[in-house]
Parts: sequence; C-alpha cells; structure tokens
Amino acid sequence: MNNSKIVTTNQKGIHENLQKVLSRYDLNNYQRPISSYSLDTFKQIKKFVGTDKFILDLGCGVGQSSFELKKVYPNYKIVGIDKSIKRLNKNNDYETVDDILLVRAELLDLIPKLMDLSDQIVVTYILYPNPWPKSIHYKRRFHFNPVMPFICELSEHIVLRSNWKLYLEEFSAAYLFLKQKNSDVKEVQIKREYLTPFEKKYHQSGQKIYELEIK
Ligand SMILES: C[S@@+](CC[C@H](N)C(=O)[O-])C[C@H]1O[C@@H](n2cnc3c(N)ncnc32)[C@H](O)[C@@H]1O
Repeated sequence: MNNSKIVTTNQKGIHENLQKVLSRYDLNNYQRPISSYSLDTFKQIKKFVGTDKFILDLGCGVGQSSFELKKVYPNYKIVGIDKSIKRLNKNNDYETVDDILLVRAELLDLIPKLMDLSDQIVVTYILYPNPWPKSIHYKRRFHFNPVMPFICELSEHIVLRSNWKLYLEEFSAAYLFLKQKNSDVKEVQIKREYLTPFEKKYHQSGQKIYELEIK
C-alpha cells in the first residue's frame, strides 16, 4: 500500500482571477522564446511522426503512460514529452520503440510549436499535472499559463487525470471561457492496469481519481 498525501488547498473554489487572466492571453502574442533543446525536440518529433496521426502525452514522466496509451491506440504513434531527463531516463526503453517516442522538452516552449502538427494530433493527454494547490501559485497550473490557448487548439480531444478534482474543474472552466464548450469532471473507476505511476500511487493510497475528457 502507498501512503500518498491528499492534495489540500487554501482555495475555496475555482480561482477568482480565471477570466481576468485568460482574457489577457492571445495565440498571436506569445512572448516566450523557444529554447534550442526544445526546438531540437520539435524537429525530432516532426521527423518521427512524418505525416502520421499521433497521440500526445504531455508531462509523461517516466513514460509508462505512453506505453499504456499504445495499448489503447494501437494504430497511432505516441509522443511522450517531459522536461525531466531524470524521469525519462528511468525508462529503459527511453527513445523510440515501436511507434513510441519519449523526448525531453520544456512544454511551455514546445506547445506553441506543436500547433504546426495539430492536424495530426488525435488526442492530447495530460496525466497528473503538478497541481500547485496553493492559491498564490495558481499561475503555475497549465490552464493559467499563456500556453493554455495553444493547449486548447492542439486537438479537439483532450484527456486529463488528477487526484485533485478542483484542478480539472478549473481546466474545464478555462476551456469553457476560451472555447465556449462545456465539459464534465468524472470520477474514474480504475479497473485495468494503471496508466501511470502517479495513478498507481494515488489509487493504492485510497484516493479518488478524476478525469476530464473534452471531445
Ligand atoms: C506529477 S508528474 C506526473 C508524471 C506522469 N504523467 C505520471 O502520471 O506518472 C508531472 C510531470 O510533468 C512534468 N512537467 C511539469 N511541468 C512541465 C513542463 N513545463 N514541461 C515539461 N514537463 C513538465 C514533470 O517533469 C513531471 O514529470
């Protein structure tokens, strides 16, 4: 059994600044320059996918989820991306194996570039993103970052999982604000193999697992 701590927050509900912050962001005015290593990664992804359709696994950690997703989507290539070389290196199969590419990049640099491949992205997965539960840290959450409008455009189908329901409710509210489309957060009954090590840890600690699926 695991004993992972439940996420606690001093936030009462969806962050009050959601609309104010998101209304400042613009697809045509993204200021962050792309780092050279993330640009190299983009070129690597482009070469790997060619003209094929693929599944994106953003923040893939050790990459277990990319291998699990290949079982769910046997006909598509899978691209797992994480900034942590330490995590990626824990996967002995790191690199390209049977249509799976695990690569290192800073997502805040790379996601706008990935727009060039958006016609080929079938589903975007964000599994157990760092929650940053303290209210003061809210801008560290993906949906409060200027990259959020790009995340919304990468693919029409997006799946997130978290053990912190409010993260997913906020993401859903942010998506509604930017794309005028409703989505619901549901509790997931874990039946089959775990998608990720974090999922395993939370589930074995007796915590609830939530999913937001937008499509
Ligand atoms: C809580 S872990 C979850 C990892 C994996 N999805 C899982 O469930 O096992 C969050 C992961 O997101 C990655 N990450 C967070 N922010 C990132 C960013 N801006 N660019 C790339 N990776 C990021 C971290 O390095 C970490 O591996």
